[in-house]
Amino acid sequence: MSRIFLSSPDVGGAERAALLRAFDSGWIAPLGPDLDAFEAELGERTGRHAVALASGTAALHLALLAVGVEPGDDVFVSTFTFAASANAIAYCGANPVFVDSDLTSWNMNPSLLADALAEAARTNHLPKAVVVVDLYGQCADYDPILDVCREHGVAVIEDAAEALGATYRDRPAGAFGDLAVLSFNGNKIMTTSGGGVLLADDPATTDRARYLATQARRPAVHYEHTEIGFNYRLSNLLAALGRAQLERLDGMIDRRLEINARYRAALADAPLTFMPVPDWSRWNGWLTCVVFDDPDVRDAVMAALAADDIESRPLWKPLHLQPAFTTATTHVDGTSERLFRHGLCLPSGSVLTDDDVDRVIRTATSAP
Ligand SMILES: Cc1ncc(COP(=O)(O)O)c(C=O)c1O
Repeated sequence: MSRIFLSSPDVGGAERAALLRAFDSGWIAPLGPDLDAFEAELGERTGRHAVALASGTAALHLALLAVGVEPGDDVFVSTFTFAASANAIAYCGANPVFVDSDLTSWNMNPSLLADALAEAARTNHLPKAVVVVDLYGQCADYDPILDVCREHGVAVIEDAAEALGATYRDRPAGAFGDLAVLSFNGNKIMTTSGGGVLLADDPATTDRARYLATQARRPAVHYEHTEIGFNYRLSNLLAALGRAQLERLDGMIDRRLEINARYRAALADAPLTFMPVPDWSRWNGWLTCVVFDDPDVRDAVMAALAADDIESRPLWKPLHLQPAFTTATTHVDGTSERLFRHGLCLPSGSVLTDDDVDRVIRTATSAP
């Protein structure tokens, strides 16, 4: 039997043809018609202006620079997330300050954030920005988060790396905050092999990001540089792959949601709960995540799946527990620590067949 992965790329004939068309067009460099069209299509999907980049992490780095984050600044960020959300803060020489999740959506807890901002205001130590993560394909509760950040005059960056195609109160992931980022890494809901995008309302913001991402090259024949730039652009070839994926995105989301429904039906009586989906959320089904009543049962299920060559993973280890960030300030209440100890991500990729999902269910439910 073949190995079942958590979230492998769903690519085929359409992507291959798009890639070869771009190759044959001669636009091999990180500029060209597919890159321009990919940005326009992403902009249309999110209602913003887009600049396509080499990774979601690069997009986060440029987003932080765009809101003026400097060495020594504080930046609040969800603790329950992948390291990239905070790594980009460290690239700026700034200090990540970790805020815990709530049990409503598993995303940043708006009242913990409000308390943390009030305390920071009292001590005249407001952060330069708040990075809000849309975890596992579900948006955070933006109304209260944006209200409190506006009240304190703090910029918001939406880390929607995992959430393309999700909505919050009918507005698309990527449309929130001053800037937003998406990732097209190989494990995401759609992929460009590796890649990301920065989204903003003002084209001047994305133009400046595009310039910084191209080594801050002034348009002189000898390339004039008045500031330090980055080599962060996406290749035209990968943009072509992305365009083919974007056309299939809604179908891939539907398949992930079908897989989630299959797990929910089969595991309805198991001693676990699924990630909650509040009524204001339409998530994209990126990963089916469950929380076991007993962490020992979670470990036994994970071991049984591994023995059957099925990949599963605990929920994200909160960043405030990661050795790289132990000196950071935290506003936590134990929520993400419990989710980490009890939680598991199940194989969820849109390439999985019903038989694959049934094999996962059989193995999981027969664990000792
Ligand atoms: C929440 C989150 N933020 C940021 C990133 C970084 O994206 P990339 O891998 O494209 O750099 C990822 C995924 O990899 C992610 O899951």
